[in-house]
Amino acid sequence: MKQDNKEYMKYNLSYDLNEQSLISPLDSVTPLFEPKIRLGILASGNGSNFEYIIKSIQTKKLDAEISILIVNNPNCLAIKKAIKYKIPYVIINHRDCKSRFEHDMLVMKKLEDFSVELVVMAGWMRIVGEEIINKFENRLINIHPSLLPSFKGVDAIQQAIDKRVTITGCTVHYVQKEVDSGLIIIQAAVPINENDNKETLKKRIQNMEHIILPLAIAKVAKNLRTKFKDNK
Ligand code: GRF
Repeated sequence: MKQDNKEYMKYNLSYDLNEQSLISPLDSVTPLFEPKIRLGILASGNGSNFEYIIKSIQTKKLDAEISILIVNNPNCLAIKKAIKYKIPYVIINHRDCKSRFEHDMLVMKKLEDFSVELVVMAGWMRIVGEEIINKFENRLINIHPSLLPSFKGVDAIQQAIDKRVTITGCTVHYVQKEVDSGLIIIQAAVPINENDNKETLKKRIQNMEHIILPLAIAKVAKNLRTKFKDNK
């Protein structure tokens, strides 16, 4: 247990880790990429995961650069974070599009324009269509606040509370057509305490999300670059 905690400390990005938390798989080596892996981040909300990706890059826990942040919601806080850290961003408001397809095409075009290698859905509150999924096969990942395959879809944290499970968590997975069903990359378990409410539990789950998402990005990026080398 002591040893495990030491491992976690390497990823401690300035918040308290719950000693009972578990991350799997946990790779403590930070892979380096030349050139740096180019990320496209999709966000709709607060952008806390987006911010922790930035912090992981700044503290050299993740060897990547964020080419572009795409948001669909013009009022989301992720924009403020992009401005704060001087990350290029674009608003592609789905309300300005006639169909989901049209919105997806604009998003895809922007990702291509910025030569994005790996797309990270960090609180992207939209279902993406097959065109994006196919275009970015093995290069499109999502973070979800439950231990998948339990509690797919909306309000996963409340679903876990309602079912009275005692352990939940978060999962980073590849995106495929069926929502929250793609291959799992990394998960973190979070115990549910008797006195937890949705907010207290959400905070602890998000603390773990902020750790596992950068780890998952590194893991997927390593696979991509290895594949690329093998194919040459
Ligand atoms: C996270 O809890 C993530 O699991 C879910 O949306 C939330 C986004 O939070 N998909 P934030 O915008 O990164 O703070």
